[in-house]
Amino acid sequence: MHTRVLTGITTTGTPHLGNFVGAIRPAVLASKDPNVDAFYFMADYHALIKSDDADRVEASRMKIAATFLAAGLDPNVATFYRQSDIPEVPELMWLLTCVTGKGLLNRAHAYKAAVDRNVDGQEDPDAGITAGLYMYPVLMAADILAFNANKVPVGRDQIQHIEMARDIAQRFNHTYGREFFVMPEAHIEEQVATLPGLDGRKMSKSYDNTIPLFEGGAKGMREAIMKIVTDSRAPGEPKDTADAALFTIFKAFASPTETVAFEQSLQGGMGWGEAKVALFDRIEADVAPMRERYEALMARPDDMEDVLLAGAAKARAVAGPLLETLREAVGLRSPRYRRQENVTSPAAPAAAPKARPPRIASFRDDDGSFRFRLFDADGAELLLSKAFADPKAAGALRQSLATLGGAAASLTAVGDQLGLQVDSATVATGPSFTDEASRAEAEARVRAALDALAAATADEAAAKAAAKKAS
Ligand code: TRP
Repeated sequence: MHTRVLTGITTTGTPHLGNFVGAIRPAVLASKDPNVDAFYFMADYHALIKSDDADRVEASRMKIAATFLAAGLDPNVATFYRQSDIPEVPELMWLLTCVTGKGLLNRAHAYKAAVDRNVDGQEDPDAGITAGLYMYPVLMAADILAFNANKVPVGRDQIQHIEMARDIAQRFNHTYGREFFVMPEAHIEEQVATLPGLDGRKMSKSYDNTIPLFEGGAKGMREAIMKIVTDSRAPGEPKDTADAALFTIFKAFASPTETVAFEQSLQGGMGWGEAKVALFDRIEADVAPMRERYEALMARPDDMEDVLLAGAAKARAVAGPLLETLREAVGLRSPRYRRQENVTSPAAPAAAPKARPPRIASFRDDDGSFRFRLFDADGAELLLSKAFADPKAAGALRQSLATLGGAAASLTAVGDQLGLQVDSATVATGPSFTDEASRAEAEARVRAALDALAAATADEAAAKAAAKKAS
């Protein structure tokens, strides 16, 4: 099964070398793993919490998008979009807001730090604090939960936000009695070293010690590299590489062999000036081709807009059906949808006493592969899964179908049959049809069966929980 990896980048700044090494490069690399389904987005709603400089937010959105694409992110493989192009995100945020304890948000580090600063300065505790800052964790939870992300790569400072997203998801699942959300896990890249900046502290805009990635061109990068602070050892003297920022930055770009050679040169007395030129050459070898792509992208903003809007459409195809399910669950229901259900499934009138639930049965194919079928309440076959070599993969799909629910199912025609898609791959095929009316009828039957199955699964879970409590 695919792991959905999701992360957001707040669009307030211009990417520097530290962002590239610490976040952008690993994200692009991860997106190329065939087992990863990457969702990366520009967190531009989050940017409004930190900055009211409209031009800066606009420019940063463009620069960050172009940087990811220039660094090799393939928008046909990953789902790459702007948060603000997904109306389901703020919509989900409200549904989550209504189950989130205010006390939970009082404990968020960023909010607490702002309050502490006010108290220390003998101000009103909430002076200058917007409700946006206060709600930040809920917006972030919506970013993650709208796409049922499994893994969220973040910096350490964001771990609390992922924990809050889990809390909020659990609260929602519990309140509305079904596993609507999968529990996201924070993922901290341990191997990726944080890049030191010009002064040896972590490279960060707030320390004003950054080396630009593309801004200022090769010249700007060279000038910044020449400002890296070194010790006062003269050429000819052996250099200590252990905590030299220059060497650490070199290592982040070079192969192990290149790194060993560079280290030996420094220990053998290479001058810092010469070392800076070598560092520039090594980084430039990687960055120059990307810079060229970056500049081409920035020169054609309309083309980039098309890429981002296509990304948003892909993302909404995931979030849209989930939100339909959630609206239904919280009581924001459409009478029209229900009326249709009654018309299209006359065999199961709404008022019928508890019908037998649909059933999933697993079996092994002649070639030894694992499959299962979904039968409706009358025992008619509705879906046949594809063949899995791995029984665990078949089991995982079976389990996810048991809680999916009809509205969340992605059903499209595959030839003259209905196909069920998960992550845009057809994982099961269903009744065949001859015309639009019989296609719609088949689709309604499958959705109704998935609804009944999800309800039965939830009942079963509730009964188990009750039995456990009683014992
Ligand atoms: N808050 C994150 C940061 O500042 C950015 C972000 C917004 C994010 N939404 C997200 C990260 C969802 C991961 C998942 O770094």
